[in-house]
Amino acid sequence: MQIAPTLLDFRPLAPSFGAELSGMPVHGDVSDADLRAFVDALHRHRVLLLRNPGLDPGDLVAFSKRLGPLELHAAVEARHPAHPEIFCVGNVVRDGITANFARGVEQWHADSSYRVIASDASLFYGEEVPPEGGETMFADATGAWDALDPATRQRLEGLRAVHSLETLYDWNRRHTPNRAPLSAEKRALWPPVSHPLVRTHPVTGAKSLYLCPAVISHIEGMDAAEGAALIEELTAHATAPRFVYSHRWRHGDLVIWDNRAVLHTASLFDHTRYQRLMFRTTLAGGALAA
Ligand code: OGA
Ligand code: MN
Repeated sequence: MQIAPTLLDFRPLAPSFGAELSGMPVHGDVSDADLRAFVDALHRHRVLLLRNPGLDPGDLVAFSKRLGPLELHAAVEARHPAHPEIFCVGNVVRDGITANFARGVEQWHADSSYRVIASDASLFYGEEVPPEGGETMFADATGAWDALDPATRQRLEGLRAVHSLETLYDWNRRHTPNRAPLSAEKRALWPPVSHPLVRTHPVTGAKSLYLCPAVISHIEGMDAAEGAALIEELTAHATAPRFVYSHRWRHGDLVIWDNRAVLHTASLFDHTRYQRLMFRTTLAGGALAA
């Protein structure tokens, strides 16, 4: 017998995207119907917020795995000691956790774009959040594409950008003292990859701008300075306030975003006064397709 899905309730987070979702079961044996409804909601809203679902690291990994296979993060040192599928983000060093701390200003991206097949979606849990600052901002990369004039769209279609972990490491090293450079092993494991600048979502068919200014080394076939200027101009367009939702974290929030349709960035907080610890799981590319 088919079990009917749980009734879910949605409240918009921003005019064009994002929804707070209530009623979603996330513990134990979540039914296939509920999972389907959840994935459909993610495709429709692109950013989902669950307030205080009460997850411990094991629950987070278990629920994430129901959605598909997970990536193990390239920053091995920031993996959770008991759950390697969790990438720890923040300024906390305790209980065997060394969270990945980047002090850069806004750095818009979609996760793991340095992989040949980048992540479909990420789940981000607020374990310890500062009372001010440390918001995560999301940009509607689809709305930003739609808003471009036809001549610009035509100019961009077909362009490809090279995404490089080395470029990202160099960027982080310029902003955060004492960060290690990319090791030879990591460089060999994740060599630079090329992705379209304008991507098409495999499920919704919607086009969006695939912009990761700190990860993109250059645009193929374009002079380096010209390519960098284009990325900068498009990023300024796509991250204008009308396309952005800024998430003010409460302890225990779970936010899930579709890496194929939105960009995101961390924002600064006073790391000398406050602690921030976030747990991220990352769905591998292809996990949620169709
Ligand atoms: C990430 C990320 C943003 C933040 O972990 O993928 O971009 O607010 N984090 O820490
Ligand atoms: Mn990210």
